[in-house]
Amino acid sequence: MTERLRIALQKKGRLAEDSFSLLKKCGLKFSIRSGGLLARVKNLPVDLLLLRDDDIPTFVATGAADVGIVGENVLVEEQLSSPSKLDADIDIRLGFSRCRLCLAAPSGGIIKSPGDLNGTRIATTYPGVLGRYLSKNNITAKAVEMKGAVELAPSIGIADSICDLVSSGATLEANGLAAFVSILDSEAVLISSSRALSPQQSEIYHKLCSRIDGVLKSAETKYIMLNAPVEKLDEITALLPGSDSPTIIPLAGTEKLVAIQAVCTENIFWETLEDLKALGARAILVLPIEKMMS
Ligand code: PRP
Ligand code: ZN
Repeated sequence: MTERLRIALQKKGRLAEDSFSLLKKCGLKFSIRSGGLLARVKNLPVDLLLLRDDDIPTFVATGAADVGIVGENVLVEEQLSSPSKLDADIDIRLGFSRCRLCLAAPSGGIIKSPGDLNGTRIATTYPGVLGRYLSKNNITAKAVEMKGAVELAPSIGIADSICDLVSSGATLEANGLAAFVSILDSEAVLISSSRALSPQQSEIYHKLCSRIDGVLKSAETKYIMLNAPVEKLDEITALLPGSDSPTIIPLAGTEKLVAIQAVCTENIFWETLEDLKALGARAILVLPIEKMMS
């Protein structure tokens, strides 16, 4: 049994870039050569396998890789279209590469809702997820399976609507299509199988998961510093999102003002800063937190 932890990753695309950047934030040092299928991590016993996204769930399920990072859309599709249940489950939802799998049809056309799909053709690269949706909703329609460029199917006349991923919506708009229902929400996920890892691999995987957890938490967590009038202290501290006991420090030369410092575990919006200012808070600073471990 190999002692290095093998992580399956998408070799190119948006999800790929964000996965590499997450692993780098977790302290893994590596460089990706274009066209390379394997990247060795220099400072930890970890190998990165660079694959086509559709192959990642199977690699993890069969043990060709130990764990993987993949879009939930790909995981669900591979599970539904695989002849036997794939041994691959989500360990951590990573929060990036969010998108929706949607049904969409030509804007202003006759298909405006799922009810209009009966007896029509739907082009997709997701026959598994689409099939599950159609049968759950008692819709009889023909799935036209494609390998890509699904958006073109209605205009070239091979389908009446499409079932495809939507992120910003720009691709649909550019092709004169409008989404009318979303059938799956997706984000990048960290997956593993139920197979036991070697003690060393397991130790590395635990370390990696705890670092990922720290990276995800610190992305939302901010350090806030401000000066506040003493008489508004309670009101001001009540506004700090997700902080339990802020530090209160006296300020030189005044008894009317104190400095407040706190770790806020939730996003601090501009509205919160405006409310703090309205209560008399001044010199408000919001700082990012680079690393966290609890
Ligand atoms: C997806 C999808 C659409 C596009 C939607 O393709 O198939 O073409 O993104 O994004 P938008 O709503 O922001 O325009 P992707 O780039 O993932 O490539 P693929 O279809 O080859 O996997
Ligand atoms: Zn793809």
